[in-house]
Amino acid sequence: MASQTAPVAVSDQIKTRAYQVKGGRPLKGEVVLSGAKNAATKQLVAAILADEPVILHNIPMIGDVSATIEMLQGLGVGVTVEGHTVTIDPRTLKTSQVSEALSRKNRIPILLMGPLIHRFGEASIPALGGCKIGPRPVDIHLAGLEKMGAEITEGEGYYKAKCKKLKAAMIELRFPSVMATETLILAAVKAKGTTVITNAAVEPEILDTAKLLQSMGAIINLETNRTWVIQGVEKLTGAEHSVIPDRIEAASFGIAAALTKGSIFVRHARQDDLLSFLNAIRRVGVPFKVESEGILFGCNDEYNPIVLETDTHPGFMTDWQQPFVMLLTQAKGVSIVHETIFEDRFGYTESLVKMGANIQLHSDCLGSKECRFKHQNFLHSCIISGPTPLKAAEICIPDLRAGFSYLLAALMADGESRVTGVELIERGYEDIINKLQKLGADIKTE
Ligand code: EPU
Repeated sequence: MASQTAPVAVSDQIKTRAYQVKGGRPLKGEVVLSGAKNAATKQLVAAILADEPVILHNIPMIGDVSATIEMLQGLGVGVTVEGHTVTIDPRTLKTSQVSEALSRKNRIPILLMGPLIHRFGEASIPALGGCKIGPRPVDIHLAGLEKMGAEITEGEGYYKAKCKKLKAAMIELRFPSVMATETLILAAVKAKGTTVITNAAVEPEILDTAKLLQSMGAIINLETNRTWVIQGVEKLTGAEHSVIPDRIEAASFGIAAALTKGSIFVRHARQDDLLSFLNAIRRVGVPFKVESEGILFGCNDEYNPIVLETDTHPGFMTDWQQPFVMLLTQAKGVSIVHETIFEDRFGYTESLVKMGANIQLHSDCLGSKECRFKHQNFLHSCIISGPTPLKAAEICIPDLRAGFSYLLAALMADGESRVTGVELIERGYEDIINKLQKLGADIKTE
């Protein structure tokens, strides 16, 4: 088994642009959700498994999509962008080597392992990047690929894989990793035989990618008990698919309404994908109304403290945790949030404390259950006491989701804040300045 290289955070590379935000204005009106980042980027890669062009609609124009497109173009794939529709033409794919210049940009390249092995019998993937929220190894991806017959070696800054023909396997994941599940699905759809992936991730974004693959000709099923069953086929064809709306963006704007004492109709927000989020905000006291075209989020004079645990789907997403912690800074009393997915995803709270929040981090598993980080000294639980008014500050974004929670802090703080490192937000939130301005926010780019 190959060893791992720690990813370099994008935040270590870019801290250039900034937003100026004057807090205190209620956000009111409507926002239209963009396509989900964590489905779109995967589907751009999945498309190269076809023998014909694949048309993807509702692709968000965000930093991670640009990086994925750049990567595919570097491999020779034809890419046409028209508004939010991207056509991927895999017929011109010419190399199995992902450029090392794309090293440490994000985590998407690992997904190319299966598609490139299918086409060339080999793949070379540069070191991965991504948000700095824990070590983020790829052992589960690689162990699964090895079970399917790939021979993997790791060198300074790359992973290489070789295999004449991937074969089906019974693969039990040691943790239901989202991208490991996706890596193995993309390897299994054209492997010889039927692959069964157990203890797998079942996030809605993965299901959406499975739908694309089925439209392309794959035989793929989600069975009970976190099990994907994939019967390999020889060939995949062109297809047309529309990416699901972004449920992380939906939650972000829902909380923005509650925190700025406003009211936001989040068009295209889907209750199915937000069940655990909606339960949590109901317990806090944030009003919402589910409508046929979206969800209307409102506000209340007072919010209740709660105890919350992040989890894999269908639990409360780790990517909702950061805006939710912001919400709990305004609840009356003591709340607890236990992060069970990433060991190091509370670093961002330090700046919130400087702005006036009362947040303490702990290495114990606080809340109702123990997690795999028990006794490992990771500061993965936090106690939040509120409500606390926030004062404006100069804050530097450490990672994408923390970035939105800093925007929320700035939008509700007294005074003018300067938020730097905004490229990280723009990796995952489309047209964010414009969307916030339309809701009445006093925010501009420097
Ligand atoms: N893990 C391993 N070994 C592996 C893979 C994962 O130990 O081989 C561990 C990770 O270290 C982590 C846990 O498993 O502790 C869960 O990680 P997972 O693999 O599920 O995360 P991911 O696939 O790398 C995706 C999203 C993240 C999201 C997580 C969890 C993408 C591009 N990223 O990451 O999204 O937080 O799933 O739902 O899909 C974001 O959008 O800002 C973001 C970070």
